[in-house]
Amino acid sequence: MEAMECLLGRQSTPAGSLVEPVPDDDEILNILESAMRAPDHGALRPWRFLLIRGAARRRLGDLFADSLRRREPAAEAAEIEKARGKPLRAPLVMAIWAEITEGIAKVPPVEQLVATAAATQNMLNALHAKGYGAILVTGAPCYDEAVKAALGLAAKDHLLGFVHIGTPNGTAAGKQRPAPAEFLREWHGPAELAAE
Ligand SMILES: Cc1cc2nc3c(=O)[nH]c(=O)nc-3n(C[C@H](O)[C@H](O)[C@H](O)COP(=O)(O)O)c2cc1C
Repeated sequence: MEAMECLLGRQSTPAGSLVEPVPDDDEILNILESAMRAPDHGALRPWRFLLIRGAARRRLGDLFADSLRRREPAAEAAEIEKARGKPLRAPLVMAIWAEITEGIAKVPPVEQLVATAAATQNMLNALHAKGYGAILVTGAPCYDEAVKAALGLAAKDHLLGFVHIGTPNGTAAGKQRPAPAEFLREWHGPAELAAE
């Protein structure tokens, strides 16, 4: 796919519209090479990727259900089962987090988060370039220390989200995008000087 066509064609696919096939292990590594191209202040390589597939998705769902029960002890059984089923919507889930290195003044945690977000976007574009669909989702479990610990994160680390991956089943509609000009301004200097 031509590069601009790829970038201008990417859109998220709802998790429930993702089906087999998924990228195999070699393809996943190839896709992640794009993540290694993300801008990365201090070359800290903060990004981490965790494959969750097969039965492990059910175990992730159990974590989500437990998380909801802890947050909302009065949650109805149907809500808990809905939370449990979330990772089962797509055949492959990849948790992404920023492993935060503390104490580096010139690369504060927010910059490490930005690098990981850029890596994630590169990965979403690479998946699209290869014909796969994906969507990044978060939700309250991302901010639940027990969920983070179960996935192997330390409290200082930031769980960016869960990328659901598969092949689009063709039911997702295309989306209108805003005109970039709405978001673009030109700066001519501080207001008092710009008027000169
Ligand atoms: C940090 C982050 C968290 C997100 N969390 C969710 C989520 O929990 N559920 C959801 O449906 N979409 C979530 N989204 C939005 C989707 O990833 C996606 O961007 C959105 O559906 C719009 O689709 P598009 O990527 O085609 O513009 C999140 C996006 C970001 C950047």
